[in-house]
Amino acid sequence: MELADLAAIAEKERAARPPVEVRCCTAAGCASAQADKVLDGLKKAAADAGLDGKVRAVSVGCLRLCSRGPLVQVDPDGTLYANVTPEAAPSVIAGLAGGPVAAERLDPAGPFFAGQASVVLENSGRVEPERVESYIAADGYKALYKAVREMTPAEVVEAVTRSGLRGRGGAGYPTGVKWATVAKNPGDRKYVVCNADEGDPGAFMNRSVLESDPHKVLEGMAIAGYAVGANQGYVYVRGEYPLAIDRLTTAIKQAGKLGLLGTHVFGTPFDFRVDIRIGAGAFVCGEETALMASIMGGRGTPTPRPPYPAEKGLWGMPTLLNNVETFANVPRIIRDGPEWFAGIGTEKSKGTKVFCLTGKVANTGLVEVPLGTPLRTIVEGIGGGAQGGAIKAVQTGGPSGGCIPAELLDTPVDYESLGKIGSIMGSGGMIVMDGASDMVDVARYFMEFCMDESCGKCVPCRAGTVQLHRLLTRIVDGAAGPDDMARLESLCHMVKDTSLCGLGQTAPNPTLSTLRYFRKEYEAKLRTDRRVHLPVYTPTVNGTPARRTP
Ligand SMILES: Cc1cc2nc3c(=O)[nH]c(=O)nc-3n(C[C@H](O)[C@H](O)[C@H](O)COP(=O)(O)O)c2cc1C
Ligand code: SF4
Repeated sequence: MELADLAAIAEKERAARPPVEVRCCTAAGCASAQADKVLDGLKKAAADAGLDGKVRAVSVGCLRLCSRGPLVQVDPDGTLYANVTPEAAPSVIAGLAGGPVAAERLDPAGPFFAGQASVVLENSGRVEPERVESYIAADGYKALYKAVREMTPAEVVEAVTRSGLRGRGGAGYPTGVKWATVAKNPGDRKYVVCNADEGDPGAFMNRSVLESDPHKVLEGMAIAGYAVGANQGYVYVRGEYPLAIDRLTTAIKQAGKLGLLGTHVFGTPFDFRVDIRIGAGAFVCGEETALMASIMGGRGTPTPRPPYPAEKGLWGMPTLLNNVETFANVPRIIRDGPEWFAGIGTEKSKGTKVFCLTGKVANTGLVEVPLGTPLRTIVEGIGGGAQGGAIKAVQTGGPSGGCIPAELLDTPVDYESLGKIGSIMGSGGMIVMDGASDMVDVARYFMEFCMDESCGKCVPCRAGTVQLHRLLTRIVDGAAGPDDMARLESLCHMVKDTSLCGLGQTAPNPTLSTLRYFRKEYEAKLRTDRRVHLPVYTPTVNGTPARRTP
């Protein structure tokens, strides 16, 4: 495969494109609302109207406003329809000739769409995720060509370093530094792993990227493999994401057939193979050492670091492990240059970030913004504010993150600013809460999640999350006294400081941040009469009595 061959595929694809394309999102959110039937209806209506060659209905990925799906967009004029039912599909085709359309029409230039950026999601809703030709027509695999044919591995690492890209999996570790470490560490073999475990409640960014634009992630992984000297990649994706797995499987096969993956990529000595490993849906398996144990066929439990995966990862070999969104940023960095990428965002947080905006907000869906965008712009401007009331708090970072009160909505959303106010960027979950939300109950919910998901390997997390959940439940039930509050706080710090992995180390964060900003809500629930007879509390997990702590 040469650059000219890539250009020929792109040209053929563009030439075959009819004047009008009716794009129907068939990603998981819309698929759950019968998008497949809508697509069939659109295809049939176009054929019945004799529009073959003039109008084509195609399956695309996420069009971002997930709560209003199925979404259908007409290209090139951009007309966008929401809540399209299979019955309404023929009217969308009739609407091309000016007929009435039996679906809600959205303004694609409205605040939800106009306020957003398009880097990671640039192809989402535009390319057909199950056709490599469609991705190639959108300049796909040009960056891989440039990397393997025009750059040395060290130059690729240097470009990623200069771009300022930081890991999108949660901690924001500088991607270039990680790549350079894997590149320099000796090993007979090296591996590239894409972390698509995505276990945070309310987060579906990675799933959406894989369902909408799987080749972008594969291209990023292949560039990474070339840069660090790895010939084998794995995508670790949870079994609850069957559509993402299907589309990824198709993409790997198609890329392999064209020589974009496999042996002699673009006719060079560089070989790169990608396989999928399916996880069973344990949150802890997103933690890198647990994930690698799971890939190697072991039980998915964390091990102490060092050694880090970059030194001793899969089968003891240097392993580069990055998040889906981290890899999805790489093709544009190589194609358009690190300076272009570094021009987006803040001094220390470069590029864009994809968030899943959910909760009590008018517009729920996938949101991509430059890092440094004020939280208020995201939740009020793009999100349209709370439904029927004022925003009380915004939870970022999932079970490892914190609750940001409404007074701090002008905080820029970047790694440093969120850290300063006691939250984290995390992988991109963003849950909006209104006046009806009980912040102590929110803290209890996240603690219950961590308690259920704790792998049980170390005592502080295994026993500590149970005790913390128990204390939070006592407070919510009005059965706790001031001494319980003191116990809650000190236990939070103990669990944070002594747990083995990030799950336990961050499990107290939602509790600590609600204590910091919503302490009065805790205090209002405390009993004042110490003589009250309290019922014995038995914590339960999914309806069954929880483990007894030692
Ligand atoms: C309990 C736990 C769950 C995690 N889950 C994920 C996940 O689902 N996806 C992810 O990319 N990183 C997750 N991480 C972070 C990974 O361990 C790792 O830091 C990350 O994948 C590195 O990629 P990055 O440098 O591109 O961010 C998790 C960490 C912990 C402690
Ligand atoms: S902190 Fe929790 S999840 Fe992590 S190793 Fe310990 S018990 Fe397992």
